Amino acid sequence: MTQCKKADNVRLASLNRRQFLGAALGAGAAMSFSPSFLALAQDASLITRAIPSTGEMIPAVGLGSSATFAQVARSEDISALRSVLSRMAELGGRVFDTAPGYGASEEVAGGIAQELGIHETLFWATKLNVAQRGGTADPAAARAQLEASFQRIGKPVIDLIQVHNMGDPAVQLGLLREMKEQGRIRYMGITTTFPEQYDSLIEVMRNEPLDFIGTDYAVDNREVEDVILPLAMERGIAVLNYAPFGRTRLWARVGDRPVPDYAHEFDAHTWGQFFLKFVLGHPAITAVTPATSRPTNMEDNIGGMLGRLPDAAMRQRMIATVEALPTV
Ligand SMILES: NC(=O)c1ccc[n+]([C@@H]2O[C@H](COP(=O)([O-])OP(=O)(O)OC[C@H]3O[C@@H](n4cnc5c(N)ncnc54)[C@H](OP(=O)(O)O)[C@@H]3O)[C@@H](O)[C@H]2O)c1
Repeated sequence: MTQCKKADNVRLASLNRRQFLGAALGAGAAMSFSPSFLALAQDASLITRAIPSTGEMIPAVGLGSSATFAQVARSEDISALRSVLSRMAELGGRVFDTAPGYGASEEVAGGIAQELGIHETLFWATKLNVAQRGGTADPAAARAQLEASFQRIGKPVIDLIQVHNMGDPAVQLGLLREMKEQGRIRYMGITTTFPEQYDSLIEVMRNEPLDFIGTDYAVDNREVEDVILPLAMERGIAVLNYAPFGRTRLWARVGDRPVPDYAHEFDAHTWGQFFLKFVLGHPAITAVTPATSRPTNMEDNIGGMLGRLPDAAMRQRMIATVEALPTV
């Protein structure tokens, strides 16, 4: 992909659809968009996916808040995060993944969303974990953590709370079930991105009523395809996809190489969209929540839910492309 195409794409994404169409149809602007992108934007509905337990539709690309988001949330200047959250909402994104374990992220995002007046419309996915790894959770401490999340987010009913990293599922899932029965949360789930915890995740998926799981999946990290994703489809469990870029791993692998020309066949114009469309090409994935601290990257990521997705054969081609890159 040339720099020019990347700039065009970011420019497209930095406009809402109406503004985009107005700009694109104007004489000067139309010069700078490729015909395929113009055609796409004419029909630029966002890809949404159903949550299996209710059928509720949610936009397929959202925002995560560990990694760089958490670094900025800890800093003195959080203005970039305000722009990231407002761009996501303006462009139609809603799913925001956070956790009390991500430093200041939950509190900072809650404050910004309330200031912007978007806290009610965001789909909040936060987490619960007061257990030490592999240890037990004190129910009183867990309840206190849950109440703190309600305070920070400022929404009377939280959309989704998941047990973080398989922390004491017996106690913590029990508390979430109680909160769901009381109508304080709409969905409950459990997460892990540690391969050594996959067996425990599978056991919980087989034995507990779950609305969601959250797990890692990327074009170069596909272990969850073996059991976890098929089981999610079989059991009607939604999947939030974490680390679609492997945090920095995939960026280091692609370096400054251009996106392959064939990516235009599924409307991916940047590597970010290439990676996001790979994961959304799996039918088990309900939504993907890449972290970013940059508004332009948020806009780029929203482009991952515009246009076509790769089919199974194309996904194999994408895997081959990435496998041919040097590992870092
Ligand atoms: N067990 C769990 O519950 C669990 C575990 C891991 C992750 N998660 C969730 O999943 C989210 C995503 O995972 P992650 O943050 O670990 O990794 P990730 O989303 O794979 O990667 C984030 C990195 O990609 C960069 N990036 C984002 N969009 C980009 C773009 N369009 N172009 C170039 N660079 C881009 C970000 O930097 P910039 O700021 O520069 O954009 C950041 O360095 C987390 O934030 C968290 O919410 C949950």
